[in-house]
This record gives sequence, C-alpha cells and structure tokens, in this order.
Amino acid sequence: MKVCVIGCGAVARRRHIPVFQSFSDVEVVSIVDNQEQIAKEVSQEFGIHKYYTDYKQALSETDADIVSVCTPTFTHAEIISYAAKLGKHILSEKPLTIDLEEGKKVLEVVKDNGVQLGVVFNYRSVDVAQQVHKTLQEKKLGKIVSMIGIAHTPCPASWTSGRWLYHEGGVLDDFGPHLIDMLLWSNPSTLESVTAQGGDFTGAFNFISHIQVSMQFKDTSIALADISWLNDSFLFNIDIHGTAGRIVCDIRNGRWYKTHGQVSSPLTEMNRTFKDATKTITSIASGKYFRDGITYHTKSISEFLEAVKNNSKPPIKGNEALMVTAVSTAAKQSLKQHKTIYVDELLKN
Ligand SMILES: NC(=O)c1ccc[n+]([C@@H]2O[C@H](COP(=O)([O-])OP(=O)(O)OC[C@H]3O[C@@H](n4cnc5c(N)ncnc54)[C@H](O)[C@@H]3O)[C@@H](O)[C@H]2O)c1
Repeated sequence: MKVCVIGCGAVARRRHIPVFQSFSDVEVVSIVDNQEQIAKEVSQEFGIHKYYTDYKQALSETDADIVSVCTPTFTHAEIISYAAKLGKHILSEKPLTIDLEEGKKVLEVVKDNGVQLGVVFNYRSVDVAQQVHKTLQEKKLGKIVSMIGIAHTPCPASWTSGRWLYHEGGVLDDFGPHLIDMLLWSNPSTLESVTAQGGDFTGAFNFISHIQVSMQFKDTSIALADISWLNDSFLFNIDIHGTAGRIVCDIRNGRWYKTHGQVSSPLTEMNRTFKDATKTITSIASGKYFRDGITYHTKSISEFLEAVKNNSKPPIKGNEALMVTAVSTAAKQSLKQHKTIYVDELLKN
C-alpha cells in the first residue's frame, strides 16, 4: 500500500511517517508540508524522495492509496474531502474537524465516494483503556450512572512550535478530544446535552486553557470532563460508577481497579498501594511504562491498514469522531451563551 503523508510537523515526524515505514507492505511515496524547508528536511530524514508544498500536486503526481492527514485541525475538512473525491482512503489525526458543519460535510463526501476514513484516537489503544472497555462491554459494572474524567497536560509549546493551537478552543480542541472520545466510547447511551464552564484562567490569552464539560445522556447517566493545559504534569484518569460497581482507571500509570460495593479498609488501601507500586516497577523494568499517548499510534495505524486491506470498517467510525466535535462545539456554545446545549439540535442538518 502506498501512503502520502500531508503535514510534516510533530505528529507526522514522531509517529505517522516512522510507523507507516515500519510495515513491510507499506511505502510512504510522498510527503507534503506547505513550508518547503520542513518538507525537504523531513524527506531527507526519512529517505522519501518526493516532497511537495501543495497536497493537490502531491496527490496528482504520486499514486497513493492512503492519505495520512497530519496538518493543523482547521485544515482537515478541506484535505479529507479533496482526497476522498480522488478515491483515497484517509487516516486523519484527531479531532476530525473543529467546526461541526464541516465535519458533517466531510462524512457525506467520504460516504459518497465509498472510501475508508479512520480517525486517530490513540488513547483507546492504551492497554488499561482496552481492559476497562472490555469490562464495561461485559456489563460487569451494570448500567453506567456517572463518569468523571480528568485530562491535564502541560501547554504544548514543547510539543510543537506551531501557533495554530492557540485559538478559541485551545485545550478543548487539542487534548480534550481524547477524553471526550473516551467518555463517549465508555457509555453506550446516546448523548443528550452539554453544559460547560471555564475559559482562560491565565487572564493573558484568548483561548480556553481549562474547562469542565458536563454531559447528560438520554438514559439519565452523566459525565464530567475536566480538561486543562494549566497543570505542569500529565493526568488522564477516569472514574466510572455503575449500578453494579465502580472502576477507577489511571491511564498515565497503567492502573485500574474495580470495586463492587465493599467499603475500603486501610488494609485494602495498603494492599492496593503495594500492588500499584509493584506494577509500576515491573512496567518500568519491562519498558512498558506509559511514556506518551503517541506510543499507541502503532496500534491505531495498524488497525486502520487492516481495515483498508480487508475492506472492513475502521475501528473508530466517522460518526463517533463527529460526536467528539459535536461535544466540543456544544461546550463552546454553552460557554458563550451560559446555557445547556442540546446535541440533537446541533446534529440536525
Ligand atoms: N493523536 C494524538 O495524540 C495527536 C498528538 C499531536 C497532534 N495531533 C493532531 O495532529 C495534527 C497535527 O498536529 P501537530 O502537533 O503535528 O502540528 P504541527 O504544527 O507540529 O505540524 C503541522 C504541520 O502541517 C503543516 N501544514 C499546515 N497547513 C498545511 C497544509 N495546508 N498543507 C500541508 N502542510 C500544512 C505545517 O507547516 C506543520 O509543519 C492536529 O490535528 C493535532 O490535533 C494528534
């Protein structure tokens, strides 16, 4: 399979290009960056001879089967639609789009042209997230009652020198989609409404640096996402309460446990702490300690390639990615209008 990678910034360089090149049946035939110096440097770094500054030219001159979209999020809609009309399968970085109307149009174009669309929500591939999801699917927690998620990461100035992230949505459109996707993925109920509080807590910027997004589902279950760029460390935790128990999951430290109504004694807590410490030491020793969410791109990309080969649906469907954009859009509207936003209204055409 032949791949054209569009956008040669942080995520393409650290994950997409090397991961695609690690598969023996995949060739990265061309790369594109609208800054020529970057495209040239990356082509030399990875030994890819054809580099372009215009993705349309790249797609007409190199016969890629798959387009990997690694450009700033506000460009995704245009590039995905163009590639879909040429019959290319598309793997897009998250989130699908910032604008919900653009996201809806993208899904229509993808459907009309019968191509595969995968969106990289790599946190779903983390081992503990997979284990928790399996437990939920087996109904071991009964029906979900409430979920609380925390996704804090330092401001991404050390990740990319790109300035495009510092727009209205800020952290909500950057790290937020990972947590919102995880909460929607965990709860089989349909989302009804979103209410948000937050904004810029530094007083210096014109974008969201910390936000709490509260979600109400149609079956009365609820979820709260606390999303921040203001913490100088990394947290990705989810606490899920069901009618038959509770799951506490710490993605950063690869830990999760499930309780079924029993009240913790000091001995239980000590036992858990001891087990957690042992697990952390073992995972460091075996090289499996969570270093970065992007480690899990390998799984996301390989699952997408399998779907293209087998002509099966990619594991993360376009409509799931669209719901993440619906939540962030609703959250921004809720901040501005100081009211609850009903998702059905937003999703109406
Ligand atoms: N899944 C994850 O964990 C994860 C992590 C980081 C970034 N991302 C996503 O990946 C995407 C890119 O993020 P990044 O951190 O690599 O950004 P970045 O700013 O480091 O890189 C983007 C690159 O795209 C280039 N570019 C901009 N417009 C272009 C266009 N029209 N055509 C071709 N090239 C263009 C820029 O010059 C830049 O080199 C975003 O959507 C982001 O949300 C996902």
